[in-house]
Amino acid sequence: MSFTIVEQATPRLNRSELAVPGSNERALQKAASLPADVVFLDLEDAVAPDDKVQARKNIIKAVNDVDWGGKTLSVRINGLDTHYMYRDVVDLIEQTGDRIDLIMIPKVGTAADVYAVDMLVTQVEEAMGKTKRLGFELIIETALGMANVDEIAAASKRNESLHFGVADYAASTKARTTVIGGPNPYYGVLTDKDGDAPREYHWGDMWHYAIARMVVAARANGLRPVDGPFGDFQDPDGYRAQAYRAAVLGCEGKWAIHPSQIELANEIYSPSEDEVTKAKRILEAMDQAQKEGKGAVSLDGRLIDIASIKQAENLVKKAESIAAA
Ligand code: GLV
Ligand code: MG
Repeated sequence: MSFTIVEQATPRLNRSELAVPGSNERALQKAASLPADVVFLDLEDAVAPDDKVQARKNIIKAVNDVDWGGKTLSVRINGLDTHYMYRDVVDLIEQTGDRIDLIMIPKVGTAADVYAVDMLVTQVEEAMGKTKRLGFELIIETALGMANVDEIAAASKRNESLHFGVADYAASTKARTTVIGGPNPYYGVLTDKDGDAPREYHWGDMWHYAIARMVVAARANGLRPVDGPFGDFQDPDGYRAQAYRAAVLGCEGKWAIHPSQIELANEIYSPSEDEVTKAKRILEAMDQAQKEGKGAVSLDGRLIDIASIKQAENLVKKAESIAAA
């Protein structure tokens, strides 16, 4: 292990993250009753410019009036290149109590963007005498943001998670897409010629690099990596496939842009019973080895390394927080 210890951000369940437009009052009321781990109330791209001011009022009212239970509550503010952003922050913090947990910052391009919002949030929190510190969720969704992802991830103690915003990322990189967050049939490989044998075409994942890159930056800074939207909510199989591949790369959850996607994310990002059982057996074997004064731990005739023990601990902790949710 390195002498540098990576400090972990506040742990939270983040399997599903529901996007709720601030302009949709009915959806704001309903969101609390849905089984999403995290709900983000949106002031940014789901809200048209003419509705921004009203959406801000709606969100402040919903934060104060709705019973959000044990949910993690986040608000996506407008980008730093708009004149809405400062008032989003000021009004939200001044006009709500302690119910908001996180602020989601879209289109983060540089560490200075995070620094600027941190400065503003800190001033308003202090002026209001608040003791609860808001955490930050940062969306990596531009070429600039991806180029600076390591510095961005390390930019503030408030940082909790990085999110891959595939729709804006595609626009920023001028990638050719078909469905938001889906594969493109033109991104693939053709097997070599082999006599007269038919050649096969294998689709690839055009988002592999971006997600893997973000996961590394997040994990190296103790943050949760979270996969963003999948646009076609009438395609649960497509959603599943994209959620699984992001989970395999290390993501802890995925956005739901429609209520029907919440349960899918919760299922895919929960450890399976088999995994939990195996993790518990690893921890038991470790306990046993300690009692017997043995340095090395083995299970089913195989040596268990420290990394597997850490993973087992994390998995069991996650299973416990899911059971408690
Ligand atoms: C999310 O904000 C995205 O652009 O995909
Ligand atoms: Mg976006």
